[in-house]
Amino acid sequence: MEQYAIKGGTPLRGEVEISGAKNAALGILAGAIMTDDIVTIENLPNVKDVNVLLCALEDIGAVVDRIDTHTVKIDGSSINRLSVDYEYIKKMRASYYLMGALLGKYNEAEVALPGGCAIGSRPIDLHIKGLRALGADVDQGYGLWSAKATRLVGNHIYLDKVSVGATINIMLASVLALGKTTIENAAREPHVVDVANFLNSMGANIRGAGTDIIRVMGVEKLHGTTYSVIPDQIEAGTYMCAAAATKGDVLLRNVIPKHLEAISAKLIEAGCIVEEFDDCVRVIAEDQKLKSTQVITQPYPGFPTDMQPEVAAVLGLAEGISIVNESIFENRFKYVDELNRMGANIKVEGNVAIITGVTSYNGARVSAPDLRAGAALIIAGLQADGYTFIDDIQYIQRGYEDLEGKLNSLGATFAHVTTDAEAQKFTLKNNKVS
Ligand code: EPZ
Repeated sequence: MEQYAIKGGTPLRGEVEISGAKNAALGILAGAIMTDDIVTIENLPNVKDVNVLLCALEDIGAVVDRIDTHTVKIDGSSINRLSVDYEYIKKMRASYYLMGALLGKYNEAEVALPGGCAIGSRPIDLHIKGLRALGADVDQGYGLWSAKATRLVGNHIYLDKVSVGATINIMLASVLALGKTTIENAAREPHVVDVANFLNSMGANIRGAGTDIIRVMGVEKLHGTTYSVIPDQIEAGTYMCAAAATKGDVLLRNVIPKHLEAISAKLIEAGCIVEEFDDCVRVIAEDQKLKSTQVITQPYPGFPTDMQPEVAAVLGLAEGISIVNESIFENRFKYVDELNRMGANIKVEGNVAIITGVTSYNGARVSAPDLRAGAALIIAGLQADGYTFIDDIQYIQRGYEDLEGKLNSLGATFAHVTTDAEAQKFTLKNNKVS
């Protein structure tokens, strides 16, 4: 059984390099097959979600040449299948970006329907609405959704809810469509902007990404490019919260501070010092008392829903009562039961968590319900008195690169163990040390 083993109680101190953004990389890798030229993508995070999508690209016939851990060359000219198997969608729902990319390039695509997941039902009605607005016939059935068009034609599309996935999927489908597409109430996340910038580097004509109105003028074809993925806003936020919870002092390198503004502001409210530099952010929490505050998750530039579990783990240690309101997903508090088993005092009422701060967590054996909930348990384990063992780490491995190397370089006592014997050895070894 694979676990993360943590001996808590050491403030994190030092420097950590942030990897490329997973949620940008997934849209970019799908878009890379929209040309028959070679596309080189750099600064890819070495995480499970990216590797699953690379396998999905190979499964439909694209050639993926892994230059190094963080760089791939993609050749979409040899694609011979327009159908994306369920096994890829099951492992990683954002494989559905291939719907927009394949439909945009070949006027046809079939993708397994994504199911719900731990955090909510995750509908795709807005994706379908957008593709139909571009003139595609979109059908659902037998666990699949398929789309066909003689020629996609630009249109004005209003998204009833701000949706990152629908914004990216529609943008992918529209770049080769005839004429102009306007996406209104578009998502403004940094990863949406990165996908737009990537597509423009291939010759697309996209304006307004990062605002709530994206305008796309269809072009005849796209050409090859070399593109580097932006740093991961959520990985950075996770290390910022780990520094806060352990009362440490951590410098994060290779970040875009503007992308972290909502997270920095919240940690400052909670009593941390946050210093911003050109491509670095420093979080100082040693000698600071954590203070309670309120959080409501919102689409960017609001506080990111993907940071909600992590900041709750910090507020669980803050003096007083904090309120966390999850306004995006309907089921994103599954980590609370696990945190309470580590000594937290959190009550959930509907989409609101009421957090009464405690002085310390205590180590326990816990299980990661989903990716960011797992990150919250790591943060709690790093602070906790004693040992924490986290099961179901496959969820966490989807979105975090080299946790062991990065955390231990900051002074943590953290290991990826694969057997009971290794877990016992970890405890014995660290008992001797302390
Ligand atoms: C993306 O998911 C991210 N995943 C999520 O990160 C992130 O939590 C989410 O955006 C919000 O920022 C990737 O980028 C791969 P949405 P996505 O469409 O695109 C509703 C992580 O931790 N909605 O912005 O699926 C939906 O139910 C993951 O890396 C519809 O109603 O999220 C939700 O309430 C977890 N109909 C809201 O919109 C639709 O057709 C926002 O969802 C689509 C979405």
